Amino acid sequence: MNKILTSMALAAACAISANAVAGGNIDAGKAAVEKYGCKACHGQDLNSPIDPTYPKLAGQHQDYIAHALTAYQRGADGANGRGNAIMGGQAKPLSAQDIQDIAAYVHSLPGSLVTDPESKFLHHAE
Ligand code: HEC
Repeated sequence: MNKILTSMALAAACAISANAVAGGNIDAGKAAVEKYGCKACHGQDLNSPIDPTYPKLAGQHQDYIAHALTAYQRGADGANGRGNAIMGGQAKPLSAQDIQDIAAYVHSLPGSLVTDPESKFLHHAE
């Protein structure tokens, strides 16, 4: 009986959090991306940046995106920080919750980034 109740509670919890992934809310992330104008550089689908040197974001791992945004906030001198004049400014106003939400949203988007299954690093030099 306890088992059944537990699984019912779990099922209910899952239904409630279907749109919230590990602390991030996809809808809130979408709104934050609109609010902060991220698409101006990363593209309408966050997968078609306006410049080939700007990264595609769509579909990237949630924890990676959250880490990257935190690193821009820390700057080049911070622990594990990233120094980039453009993104440093973009990341500055984001709250910790904004970052979690944006990361969840970015991860939910279909992207075209792939992992090369035939990585050159797998071949051993003889
Ligand atoms: C003015 C153009 C511009 C805007 C606006 C902008 N970005 Fe960026 N973004 C860049 C550039 C350029 C880079 C690459 C920086 C580098 O080399 O570290 C980048 C990198 C990133 C990365 C790192 C991706 C990776 O693969 O490591 C993330 C995440 C990111 N941006 C998210 C955002 C978010 C979220 C917003 C809105 C809050 C935003 N960007 C707004 C230009 C922009």
